[in-house]
Amino acid sequence: METMTGAFASSADGRTVTVSSPPGGGIAAGDVVLVRPPGETDPIAVQVLDGVGNGVLLADPGPNAVGRRFASAEVGAAQAADLEALQAARGADLPIGTWTCGDVTVPARLRSQGFGRHTFLCGQSGSGKTYALGVILEQVLIGTGLRMVILDPNADFVGLGDVRDEASADQSAKLRGLDVRVLGADATGATPLRLRFTAMPRAAQAAVLRLDPIRDRDEYNAYLNIEVRSGDTDIVDVVRRLREGDDAARALAKRIENLGLGSWEVWAGDLPSASEVVGSGARVTVADLSGFMDPHEPVAVALDLIEQLWLQRGSRTPTLIVVDEAHNLCPAVPQGPIQTLLVERLIQIAAEGRKYGLWLFLSSQRPSKIHPQVLSQCDNLVLMRMNSPGDVAELTEMFGFAPPALLATSPSFTQGEALVAGTFAARPSIVRMGQRLTQEGGRDVAVPGV
Ligand SMILES: Nc1ncnc2c1ncn2[C@@H]1O[C@H](COP(=O)(O)OP(=O)(O)OP(=O)(O)O)[C@@H](O)[C@H]1O
Ligand SMILES: [Mg+2]
Repeated sequence: METMTGAFASSADGRTVTVSSPPGGGIAAGDVVLVRPPGETDPIAVQVLDGVGNGVLLADPGPNAVGRRFASAEVGAAQAADLEALQAARGADLPIGTWTCGDVTVPARLRSQGFGRHTFLCGQSGSGKTYALGVILEQVLIGTGLRMVILDPNADFVGLGDVRDEASADQSAKLRGLDVRVLGADATGATPLRLRFTAMPRAAQAAVLRLDPIRDRDEYNAYLNIEVRSGDTDIVDVVRRLREGDDAARALAKRIENLGLGSWEVWAGDLPSASEVVGSGARVTVADLSGFMDPHEPVAVALDLIEQLWLQRGSRTPTLIVVDEAHNLCPAVPQGPIQTLLVERLIQIAAEGRKYGLWLFLSSQRPSKIHPQVLSQCDNLVLMRMNSPGDVAELTEMFGFAPPALLATSPSFTQGEALVAGTFAARPSIVRMGQRLTQEGGRDVAVPGV
């Protein structure tokens, strides 16, 4: 061990360690250092979790690390092998970029098993969230067998099947071998993004009709009692039959016409619906929600996808449900029946989805924009640059597993830097995201020169 001059460590309880180093001694919050108690040969790895040098003893990589009390231990810098061993001991296997401790930089890895939890990715606009999300999803696709459904509001992931030259031969072969389906509003695409009204659960159909179970008590009830026949393939068939019915049925037909539902592009008709595509065995389904004329269409198709995943939860198919710009689909204050039902179901998945292998990965600019009952269930955090002290304070409060001293450094992050903490991180650490292996969809627009 290469000792650091003037740095000492002690542990009064065998669990926490105090590391003292002279000012400018080169130890920062988040760093892993080695401490060697007097009379011992093997050092113990310790992560310093706050700026004044209080660390936590790590049980890995050295055996018997926890439980020993000591004073005046020498402190040394961790080497690349120590950092790699620490990550390996925690099962961190998915490389997402680099992790620098002191003068040493190693590949940063996430634990693939940690994706069996819900994840929140947060950072201000332009901090690199969508890019980072892409990097992480590519590695999840390469390194696990998880099925993925991506709700993509800005067509940012439409290039996920398009592998870049920078990918290694091995990465490229794995990514090219995946069944990636990109669905969008545009009917000229290979498979358009569609929704089958008649296959939706009744409450979801009523939500599309913007019927509120309390406010529109009578109409809602009339709708529940109307038979949807197996011969009905589309909302157009439903309207035709409603027109032939009694007063209540005719009122519902008028409602559908007045809402302009008949002219929505999103109805499947003879085409497969998005949830049928997911059910057909696609490894990745990218639902590009941009490009619909009516703003209710993307929310309705997202609702159908989530409802069908929930209905089929008994199959226990491990599925990562990715929602970029999650404030659109999972807002703190939902608006209207479609969004309200969608948020209710996302809350249910946040609370109970783990039992069925349904895991959420949500991304947004501010924690307060996302429904708190979903956010509070997230056991993984990726935090990118965040200027607002109020937002950092809220995250500190909500994500107790992320060390406050590391959260507090987020205003100084550059684009592509992130704090990763929680079940999927070997240790809470500040990482620099690596390069994308597939094409980015909607890159930022540059100001043209003259
Ligand atoms: N690590 C990175 N390496 C290279 N380019 C990056 C990186 N991170 C982000 N960028 C680029 O910076 C721009 C903004 O990044 P990105 O779209 O990921 O930000 P964002 O946090 O998702 O912003 P918003 O909240 O507005 O959606 C994009 O053009 C992206 O290509
Ligand atoms: Mg983005």
